[in-house]
Amino acid sequence: MNIVFVFKRNMAIALVHDCLPTILLYMLFFFGSIADGQVVYSVSEEANPGTTVGNLAKDLKLNLQDLHNRGFQLVSGTNKRYFDLNTKTGILHIKDRIDRDELCGRSLTCCLPLEAIVNVPLNVYRFEVNIIDINDNTPTFRSPVKYFNISESAFPGERFPLPNAFDADVGSNSVKSYKLSANEHFSLDVQSGGEQSVSAELVLQKALDREKQPVIQLTVTAVDGGKPPRSGTINLIVNIEDVNDNIPVFSKPLLKARVVENAPLGTSVIQVHASDPDEGLNGEIAYSLVSQDSDNNVDAFSIDSETGLITVKGTVDYEKGAAVEIRVQAKDKGLKPRAAYCKVLVEIMDINDNRPEISVTSLVNTVKEDAANGTVVSMITVLDNDAGKNGEIQLKVRDSLPFKVQNSYKNYYTLVVNGPLDRERFTRTQTFPNKEKTAGRKL
Ligand SMILES: *[C@@H]1O[C@H](CO)[C@@H](O)[C@H](O)[C@H]1NC(C)=O
Ligand SMILES: *[C@@H]1O[C@H](CO)[C@@H](O)[C@H](O)[C@H]1NC(C)=O
Repeated sequence: MNIVFVFKRNMAIALVHDCLPTILLYMLFFFGSIADGQVVYSVSEEANPGTTVGNLAKDLKLNLQDLHNRGFQLVSGTNKRYFDLNTKTGILHIKDRIDRDELCGRSLTCCLPLEAIVNVPLNVYRFEVNIIDINDNTPTFRSPVKYFNISESAFPGERFPLPNAFDADVGSNSVKSYKLSANEHFSLDVQSGGEQSVSAELVLQKALDREKQPVIQLTVTAVDGGKPPRSGTINLIVNIEDVNDNIPVFSKPLLKARVVENAPLGTSVIQVHASDPDEGLNGEIAYSLVSQDSDNNVDAFSIDSETGLITVKGTVDYEKGAAVEIRVQAKDKGLKPRAAYCKVLVEIMDINDNRPEISVTSLVNTVKEDAANGTVVSMITVLDNDAGKNGEIQLKVRDSLPFKVQNSYKNYYTLVVNGPLDRERFTRTQTFPNKEKTAGRKL
């Protein structure tokens, strides 16, 4: 359906004031020959060919009878091709497709000046056809996607301008508003700077966190004011840029490990692990040992800065301490690095590297044949520098002799008579208080 509006004479001129300059020009050119009043028609763009624009003969108050003979016709010109004048009926029709948006662009009004002519006497009639915009164009963005890089440290309130959508239609059919897809972080501020310019900005509402959501996808819809409205969309891809806002975290704050003393260089002790959710160097971790001057054994260990593997690099000596507390630092490689610490308690396991030393501190050279059970013959001290089981001592009297060893206190022992002594059977007894594996002493 096409709507044709007809406005006549002075009223029409007043309505379509943009047409005035051309009207004046023609008035000067054809002074005296322009008929009284001005005819202005209105027709929608894209109206079908054949659509009636108006009864030109009637509106120009021309007599239908002699129109044909007088050569009633449209005067050649750029706009003539769009119209057809029926010389029998005097009616003006659409002949060709009229695209207002191509003809008049952003101009709010679109008036096509036309002339009709009759001979005998020669008369030129000026009239105009006002092309009415219809909402035949959809708002479109130049590019379907726009990328943003926004730092995760951006403050709420920061603004990011959006590209404008273009709509070839004018007035109320042009872009009137923008809408933003539902999301947690951004809102849209739409600014209307008059009839033709509506623009929008993204406004950050809630602080970003790259570690939670590294990319946010949004859709902005541009809507025109047509009835019904048309709309076009653009996808916004917001890449959240990392800042070093996370401290490395150790998987365990306290670890326990064991290593035997004198372990060979390079022996693995334990591997520590810390993680940092930041991106790139902000999340890359270097491990190191925090030196503590008080504990020498710390120097016997080293850590691989990349893997966190602690190994032996020196002499681990149990006798210096049964356990070592190593403090490990995990530091990220950001411009402003952040660090965390953990403790590794390394228990040093003694190995049986010391022979028991037996010393006889008191010796009775002779024992009476009738010495009673329990008579002390000698006192023995045994020393073993090893710890734990390796330092535990067992003293035994070899063979079956009438003596036994008694533990008196810690590593002090006594050799006592245990059974009848028969001088005639043992002239000089030979006993060997004996530690099982290593040492013996002849008494
Ligand atoms: C976003 O950052 C990346 C990487 O630094 C860069 O290649 C790209 O051009 C940036 N994009 C915009 C829209 O600034
Ligand atoms: C001395 O000890 C031995 C071995 O235990 C025992 O056979 C003996 O009867 C004891 N003698 C005395 C007098 O108690």
